[in-house]
Amino acid sequence: MDLYEYQAKDLFAAHGVPVLPGRTVDTASDAEAAAGEIGGAVVVKAQVKVGGRGKAGGVKLAENPPEAKEKAEKILGLDIKGHVVHRVLVTEASDIAEEYYFSFLLDRSNRTFLAMASAEGGMEIEELAVERPEALARVPIDAIAGVDKAKADEIVTKAKLPAAVADEAAEVIVKLWDTFVGEDATLVEVNPLVRDPQDKIIALDGKVTLDENADFRHEAHAALVDERTENPLEAKAKAKGLNYVKLDDGQVGIIGNGAGLVMSTLDVVAYAGESHGGMKPANFLDIGGGASAEVMAAGLDVILGDSDVRSVFVNVFGGITACDAVANGIVEALKILGDDATKPLVVRLDGNNVDEGRRILAEANHPLVTVVGTMDDAAAKAAELAAKAGA
Ligand SMILES: Nc1ncnc2c1ncn2[C@@H]1O[C@H](COP(=O)(O)OP(=O)(O)O)[C@@H](O)[C@H]1O
Ligand SMILES: [Mg+2]
Repeated sequence: MDLYEYQAKDLFAAHGVPVLPGRTVDTASDAEAAAGEIGGAVVVKAQVKVGGRGKAGGVKLAENPPEAKEKAEKILGLDIKGHVVHRVLVTEASDIAEEYYFSFLLDRSNRTFLAMASAEGGMEIEELAVERPEALARVPIDAIAGVDKAKADEIVTKAKLPAAVADEAAEVIVKLWDTFVGEDATLVEVNPLVRDPQDKIIALDGKVTLDENADFRHEAHAALVDERTENPLEAKAKAKGLNYVKLDDGQVGIIGNGAGLVMSTLDVVAYAGESHGGMKPANFLDIGGGASAEVMAAGLDVILGDSDVRSVFVNVFGGITACDAVANGIVEALKILGDDATKPLVVRLDGNNVDEGRRILAEANHPLVTVVGTMDDAAAKAAELAAKAGA
């Protein structure tokens, strides 16, 4: 889960990382009041989960409360790269001597954690990495050893941060590591990490991605979910304990059991779709081991709730849950959904007790269901039906 800047900075503050005081508000008049409470010049910042807010007009300086109201009026409702601003952070304005870049992330390809740091912050890191790769220090972090002051000193030296702030920057880096580990994050990024005229180091921006697999040990993280912007189908699937992922530009809904089978189903549908007007997977849902009627009904309900879906491919390999149970699940699910099931279903079953599974589906003879013997043929059928539904 990605966090908003203000949430990221709340976590920073809880771990002792210096941040500036601020308040989040949803209206321009509240922004005026917040600016009055903070006192002096403030910065009004769009709270959207996307970078480059500054360039997009989502970060504005205000000298006094009426100006903060004016700036908030301009920012609230703004569309930044497809994200509409519902909330702004009103925060103390900082004098900035220098802007640095800093991040901890999970480096999957090298199976380790990585610290990235640069004395040239502020600009987008992707640009810096391409244009001046030598200016971006990359320091692998051993997961067990972690980051102590000595390691942080090494990062600071490699990033060529000025000697005057080296010590304080290293201390902040240790606290950012505490945040990264303590909150079970996969990303902690500060851009810019600033040096103010008094040589104080402050996290002026914050980006944190939390590892949802660790949610069970962070009760407080549940409160960080923003229901307003959560994809309603993803939320529904999550509430039912299902793994649902929405894809862009697709038309075929996909249900399978097991991550491997689901991934290869995406491939065969995309391939088959090339011969059927470019149909592609619209989403996918892994129903895992238990394909009971309830799970299948919940899964179909989620998949059919996606308005992009024109046909559904149910691809199940019977193992511990045998094909007859899956077939019964599909039949019962269609009964539960009743008139809510409106789109054609292509079902491919194989594995444990497949003959009985196919017999159950044949006997039910549901008008929306087509049973196809092989995965490739089923993918082609699903793509064909999707293309037909769009014609
Ligand atoms: N509290 C602040 N005081 C002064 N300048 C700020 C403050 N917050 C942000 N800025 C300036 O605005 C720029 C963009 O803000 P930032 O929070 O990094 O948003 P984004 O990365 O989405 O553009 C920063 O690089 C900094 O120069
Ligand atoms: Mg930034």
